[in-house]
Amino acid sequence: MSDRSTINNIQNLRTSYKKEKLKITDLSNNPIEQFKNWLEHAINSEALEPTAMSLATANNSAHPSLRTVLLKGITDKGFVFYTNYESRKGNEINDNNKVALCFLWKELERQVTIRGKAEKISKDKSEQYFSSRPRGHQISAWASTQSAEIPNRQWMIDREEKITSRFDSGKIPYPEFWGGFNVNPEEIEFWQGRENRFHDRVLYKIVDKKWIKLRLSP
Ligand SMILES: Cc1cc2nc3c(=O)[nH]c(=O)nc-3n(C[C@H](O)[C@H](O)[C@H](O)COP(=O)(O)O)c2cc1C
Repeated sequence: MSDRSTINNIQNLRTSYKKEKLKITDLSNNPIEQFKNWLEHAINSEALEPTAMSLATANNSAHPSLRTVLLKGITDKGFVFYTNYESRKGNEINDNNKVALCFLWKELERQVTIRGKAEKISKDKSEQYFSSRPRGHQISAWASTQSAEIPNRQWMIDREEKITSRFDSGKIPYPEFWGGFNVNPEEIEFWQGRENRFHDRVLYKIVDKKWIKLRLSP
């Protein structure tokens, strides 16, 4: 049996961040363009799951909840992900559309955090994306009652089988309870790890309808 000495020593686990520097004047004046630069770099560096982001929502009592979702599009209006509209996150966004996102690219010692408001994208766009998904993913969207309690795994497998035979080999229709949200950013922060915890942080926020950049203390 493990004596848990590794776990008991986590206070001594430390990484020194030395890869890059962040100069405010090198960053684009548009944070969405800057985000694209960093994401492109993360994808090209073969960072694991470069589009994975934490999504924080909060319910009516301001109690937050958090989970990972995948970024599926970036537009001038913001950051798009897809989910079940009746899931916990879907319901919380329905009650309170203020959300936050966090990308962590560990391999690059980089983090991007975003605060903004989420809104459903058009049904047409969700339908278009749904039809581009692999058939197995489409069936799973129909079969999942995401975030609801289920009796056991077999219940889900039975449901998947029923749905598979219901649609036979034909086109799988778009389920209206599933689709995209766009997060319209109000603040975007770029973080680059530096030595001795003297990290670089640049925050973009909107002042008089324009993005401005400022440096934050680590
Ligand atoms: C790497 C990764 C990617 C994920 N991508 C998505 C996604 O794009 N959409 C989604 O609804 N759930 C995704 N999930 C599952 C969510 O983290 C979460 O378990 C699920 O959406 C239910 O969340 P909720 O009960 O808070 O609504 C992903 C999980 C992981 C670990």
